[in-house]
Order: sequence, then structure tokens, then C-alpha cells
Amino acid sequence: MAARILISLLTASLVTSQVTFQNSTGTKLRVDNGTYGPPIEEVHYYGRIFTTYTRGSYDYTLGVVVNETAETPYPSAELNLPPDQLNTSWNGIPFGSGNASAFISVQAVYITSNTSSRPETLWAIDTGRPTVHNAQGDPSMPYAQPGGPKLVAISLANNSIYQTYTFPASVHYPDSYLNDLRFDFNPNLTDTSGAGVAYLVDSSNEGRPGFIMVDLGTGDSWRRLTQDASVLRGENDVPSYQGHPFYLRQSGMPITWQQEGLDGIQLTPDGETMYYSPLSQRTLYSIPTRNLRTRDTDPLAELNAHANVSSHGQRGGDANGFEGDSNGLIYQLMPEHNAIYYYDPRDGQTHGFVRDPRIIWPDGASVGADGYIYMNINQLPYQPDWNDGVDGRTYPGAVLRCKLPENRTKIRSLYE
Ligand SMILES: *[C@@H]1O[C@H](CO)[C@@H](O)[C@H](O)[C@H]1NC(C)=O
Ligand SMILES: *[C@@H]1O[C@H](CO)[C@@H](O)[C@H](O)[C@H]1NC(C)=O
Ligand SMILES: *[C@@H]1O[C@H](CO)[C@@H](O)[C@H](O)[C@H]1NC(C)=O
Ligand SMILES: *[C@@H]1O[C@H](CO)[C@@H](O)[C@H](O)[C@H]1NC(C)=O
Ligand SMILES: *[C@@H]1O[C@H](CO)[C@@H](O)[C@H](O)[C@H]1NC(C)=O
Ligand SMILES: *[C@@H]1O[C@H](CO)[C@@H](O)[C@H](O)[C@H]1NC(C)=O
Ligand SMILES: *[C@@H]1O[C@H](CO)[C@@H](O)[C@H](O)[C@H]1NC(C)=O
Ligand SMILES: *[C@@H]1O[C@H](CO)[C@@H](O)[C@H](O)[C@H]1NC(C)=O
Ligand SMILES: *[C@@H]1O[C@H](CO)[C@@H](O)[C@H](O)[C@H]1NC(C)=O
Ligand SMILES: *[C@@H]1O[C@H](CO)[C@@H](O)[C@H](O)[C@H]1NC(C)=O
Repeated sequence: MAARILISLLTASLVTSQVTFQNSTGTKLRVDNGTYGPPIEEVHYYGRIFTTYTRGSYDYTLGVVVNETAETPYPSAELNLPPDQLNTSWNGIPFGSGNASAFISVQAVYITSNTSSRPETLWAIDTGRPTVHNAQGDPSMPYAQPGGPKLVAISLANNSIYQTYTFPASVHYPDSYLNDLRFDFNPNLTDTSGAGVAYLVDSSNEGRPGFIMVDLGTGDSWRRLTQDASVLRGENDVPSYQGHPFYLRQSGMPITWQQEGLDGIQLTPDGETMYYSPLSQRTLYSIPTRNLRTRDTDPLAELNAHANVSSHGQRGGDANGFEGDSNGLIYQLMPEHNAIYYYDPRDGQTHGFVRDPRIIWPDGASVGADGYIYMNINQLPYQPDWNDGVDGRTYPGAVLRCKLPENRTKIRSLYE
């Protein structure tokens, strides 16, 4: 439906003063003030804040905030491989380091509570794929070799790594990219040893995304839904950030589109359903976690998994990270809208939760036991590797938070 706008000279002559957005005191029009939902607070400290840097030329990839302006490598500088040891090459093919006992490029961290059998743990995923720059400063990402990509458990009680899981090349491909992680420590999970399972995201920009599962007892790992339509990147996706259409501009390369597949994942509080979506699709999907755990020894494992994917329809934009709460809501970070939306399984719809002009690329959120949702904002669309080498970010990055309504809080797993 399109209404034609007819402006006569007479009407135009009736406009006596110029009402602009910058001075809209005289406006009669409805104005989008850019916000809704609970007020967003700028937080700098809450307990220990861990920071991750995909590398890179930084000296370290995993850090801990020490005060308002400073941070330090975590758990130690020695565990962070120096920049000149991050990559190598074989027959002219670039590879990341295969060092299983040092950090190469940590993409995400997750904290689980202490139990009788486990200390409070910081879990970190290392992609094994640093972003390296040639002499002209053009970025590229070498392939992974076994040993480099890993899931690491660090005790927050003694600040030491107590377990490292690596992957065979048949599970973590050279072009895989570990992006996010969730855990279920229920001892009764099907197809596991009873020591719990990790669900990892392979977001592969090269186009083979999917889920990677790890049995935390045996260290076995396997894939599911590789290249299923529900994990693939959206075709030639052009999102808008702050009202600007976005193409990927990497120096030394032709202009292209955002390439990332599967990105956001969230388990329901009962551990039975995994919600997920690629970064560059507008659709929310889910799958029973039982299908993700079924091992390759079942010849129908992949077919059944595919058959059990549900689409929950479009949500109104691209989304990256997800989070959940005790009420079973699936929060989705919406970088195009400076907002967090949530899907409510009870009414089958996606709703707006909070929107604020400061939420410029929400890059991971977590609900705390204090009933606040914390989000890291990092202005990713302005980073030099996506903008012909020009850094358009303003500093600092920040952690923001707002209170969840109705006493909603962190999911307290029975098994954590
Ligand atoms: C804003 O516009 C109003 C009239 O709409 C005018 O009275 C006022 O002086 C303007 N303020 C500034 C700062 O220009
Ligand atoms: C902005 O608009 C929303 C309605 O869309 C309203 O609920 C909110 O109070 C407004 N905020 C400010 C700061 O005016
Ligand atoms: C923050 O920590 C750094 C490094 O320890 C120190 O040099 C600096 O003085 C501290 N700043 C404040 C404001 O405490
Ligand atoms: C690491 O990558 C950079 C950028 O591509 C390259 O110049 C350098 O030779 C690589 N190092 C090794 C040891 O292959
Ligand atoms: C792996 O990195 C650690 C920490 O930098 C170093 O001590 C160790 O020698 C490296 N191992 C190999 C095989 O290079
Ligand atoms: C976790 O650690 C706290 C503080 O040390 C302790 O009080 C609590 O009993 C521990 N919980 C479990 C389940 O071991
Ligand atoms: C740290 O704690 C873990 C888990 O409790 C334990 O396995 C490891 O031996 C400890 N490491 C050191 C250096 O104390
Ligand atoms: C695990 O299964 C056993 C046997 O069916 C049952 O007794 C136990 O309560 C279950 N535990 C949990 C945590 O569900
Ligand atoms: C789909 O998931 C449900 C719930 O776990 C299960 O009962 C059913 O067997 C699954 N179907 C297939 C084809 O795997
Ligand atoms: C939230 O908790 C308070 C205090 O326990 C209680 O009075 C209130 O009814 C709760 N609200 C909801 C919506 O559950």
C-alpha cells in the first residue's frame, strides 16, 4: 500500500518554522526515541570480568580485568602463545599453531559453578585460528591443525588448567571455527558417559558449520547437522547497522557479505531442547538435544537429526549470541536493532525486550544470579578487519546490564 504524497505550493507556504530532529520541540509527529524496556546501566565491574581477543597482534588472547582501565593475561602470560608462534605453513598452505598446551585465539568463555566433583570453572574455547596480517596489513585466517582448536577447563579456585579436550580432523575440520559453548552435566544424558556433555558451535565462514559435541568423561567428540540448511549462512545477507547497509570490506579482498553460519545457541532449563540460528539468517530453529547426542554408530543419526529440526519462524532481524533464563525464555542479541529480543516457547512468538542506542553490537550476554542480564558491547561492525583496515570504533568497549522483570534469573541447573 503506497499513499501518494501531493504537496502544493500553498501547503508548503503554510510551513512557518523548520522543525528538525536536532530541535524537535515543535514537532507534532511520533518520534522513535531509540529505547524501550528496562533502563540500561553501564557497568564496569562485577566479580571477575574475563575478556577475549581473537588474534592477532595482541600479546594475549584471554585476559582478566584488574581495574577500570587495566587488564592482565589470564591465567598467565606464558599460556598465551607469542604472536610469532601463532601460525605456520605446510607446502605453502597456511595453518594455525597445533600447540595444545597454549592459547592461540580464545573466542568465548563460559563459567560453571563448583560441585562436589568440580571446582568453579572457566571454560574457554580456543579456535586455533588466529587472524594474521601480511606485510601490507591485509588480514587472513589460516586453517586449523589438530591440537590448536580446544576446549579448556580452568579452575577459578587455583587459576590452573585442569583439563584440555582437542579434536580429530574429522570432527574439527581445518576450516571449522569454534564460536560458542553450552554445558549439560546431567549424569543421565543419553549417549554419554555420565560426566556431562559440551555443545559447541562451529560457525565456519568457509561454509561447513554445524554442532560439535564433547563427552566430558571420555573426551570423545562428534558432529551433527553439518551444513544443514538451518546452520548455513543466509544467502548474500546485507544487514543494517545504525541505519547503514553493511558489506564486509576486508583489505586485499573484493567486497563481500557476512559469511558466518551457526552462531547463537541456548539450551532450555530442562536440557532437552537446543535453540539456535546462524548469524546471517532471520529464522530461529531448535532441535531436541537427544538428536545432537546420538553417535555416528547409529546410521540414522544425521537423517533423524535433520528430520527433528523445528523452525520457529522469522524474528525480525539477524541475531548473534543467545542466552536463557529461569523462565525458559530464549534471549537473542539483535545487532541490527541495538536490542535484545526473546522468544517465548509458550506463545510461539519473538518479543522485544530491551533497546538502547548504546547497544552497538551486543556480543555475548549472560544472566547473573542477581537477576540482571549483562551484555558485552564491542562495535564489531566498525573494526578494521571489516572496514578496509580503518578502525572506526570509539573506546572503551563496555559491559552493560539491565534487570530482568518478574524475578527471572540465571538458569540453575540441577547438575551444576
Ligand atoms: C527550537 O525550536 C523552537 C520552535 O520550534 C524555538 O522556539 C527554539 O528557539 C529552538 N531552539 C533552538 C536551540 O534553536
Ligand atoms: C521512548 O519511547 C518509549 C515508547 O516507544 C517509551 O516507553 C519510553 O519511555 C521513551 N523513553 C524516553 C527516554 O523518552
Ligand atoms: C590499574 O592497574 C594498573 C596495572 O596494575 C595500574 O598501573 C593502574 O595504576 C591502576 N589504575 C587504577 C585507577 O587503579
Ligand atoms: C604467518 O602469517 C603471516 C601472514 O600471512 C605470514 O606472513 C607468515 O609468514 C606466517 N608465518 C609462518 C611461520 O608461516
Ligand atoms: C607450546 O606452548 C608452550 C607455552 O608457550 C610452550 O612452553 C611449549 O614448548 C609449546 N609446545 C610446543 C610443542 O611447541
Ligand atoms: C562450592 O564452594 C563453596 C565455597 O567454597 C562451598 O561453600 C560449597 O559447599 C561448594 N559447593 C559444592 C557443591 O561443593
Ligand atoms: C587445580 O585444581 C584442579 C581441579 O580441582 C586440580 O585438578 C589441579 O591439580 C589443581 N592444579 C594446581 C596447580 O593446583
Ligand atoms: C538418573 O537415573 C536414575 C535411574 O533411572 C535415577 O534413579 C536418578 O534419579 C536419575 N538422576 C537424575 C539426576 O535424573
Ligand atoms: C525427535 O525428538 C523426539 C524428542 O526427543 C524423539 O522422541 C523422536 O524420536 C525424535 N525423532 C527423530 C526422527 O529422531
Ligand atoms: C518476586 O519475588 C518477590 C519476593 O520474593 C515476591 O513477593 C513477588 O511476588 C515475586 N514476583 C513474581 C512476579 O514472581
